[in-house]
Amino acid sequence: MQSASNMTSDPNPRSESPKVVWHTGSVGLAQRAELMGQIGCVVWFTGLSGSGKSTIANRLDGMLQTQGRPSFLLDGDNIRHGLCAGPSMLEPQYGASFAQRFGLGFSPQDREENIRRVGAVTCLMASAGLICLTAFVSPYRKDRDRVRSMIEEQAGLRFFEVFVDTPLAICEQRDPKGLYRQAREGKIPFFTGITDPYEPPPSPDLVIEAGTGTPEIHAQSVLEHLALERIFRDLPRNSSANSSANTSANTSGEGL
Ligand code: ADX
Repeated sequence: MQSASNMTSDPNPRSESPKVVWHTGSVGLAQRAELMGQIGCVVWFTGLSGSGKSTIANRLDGMLQTQGRPSFLLDGDNIRHGLCAGPSMLEPQYGASFAQRFGLGFSPQDREENIRRVGAVTCLMASAGLICLTAFVSPYRKDRDRVRSMIEEQAGLRFFEVFVDTPLAICEQRDPKGLYRQAREGKIPFFTGITDPYEPPPSPDLVIEAGTGTPEIHAQSVLEHLALERIFRDLPRNSSANSSANTSANTSGEGL
């Protein structure tokens, strides 16, 4: 037990306690997989802003829901309203110094922290047996690779990197939020594809050429990939509700 004088004499108020230890839970991954009828995994969509990541991931989330397969989508823009909020969102409630310390923007280091936090959440969700979908620009290879190694090597779970490969010219033409125009006008710093790089994955698990095709077709191809990788243990629970778009997963066989 630490004495009161020891506790107050710490010269560094941010110092880390050496007494934080990992507790192994009593319910294992295999038990959770058995209960869920699927192997928890991470499906990581990466690509330029406007490439179609969120739309495709949302369609996939809907297809999984229809099949009775528990999933959850972490979307970059939404996560930046909470877990990874920017300084201006935090400041009114938490004050300026807190907001500066914990709020995230789009500098390389802030994106690194964004992906680190999100990666940790995906690890928890996949550990719980969910099919955890993400839609983040995640432009830097090293940040994505770190998440993969945490998921695969530390947690022993599957990680699928899906590169939504839509040419910059098409993303810029779509410009759904008017951000490319503002970036070209010099109003948004560090804008991916314009004033900040996008590093394509050298060996993604799946490439989606989303300059053409429909979100349904692309989502279906990811669903088929998951089935081929034997993520689903059994037939969909409510197969009567399935559309033809779901049939490929019916042949997935047992995967545990
Ligand atoms: S990431 O690079 O850190 O992974 P994230 O996916 O969370 O980015 O957020 C990207 C979203 O924020 C984009 O869809 C876009 O709407 C918006 N955004 C705002 N500023 C930028 C910027 N500088 N670069 C890219 N996207 C930006």
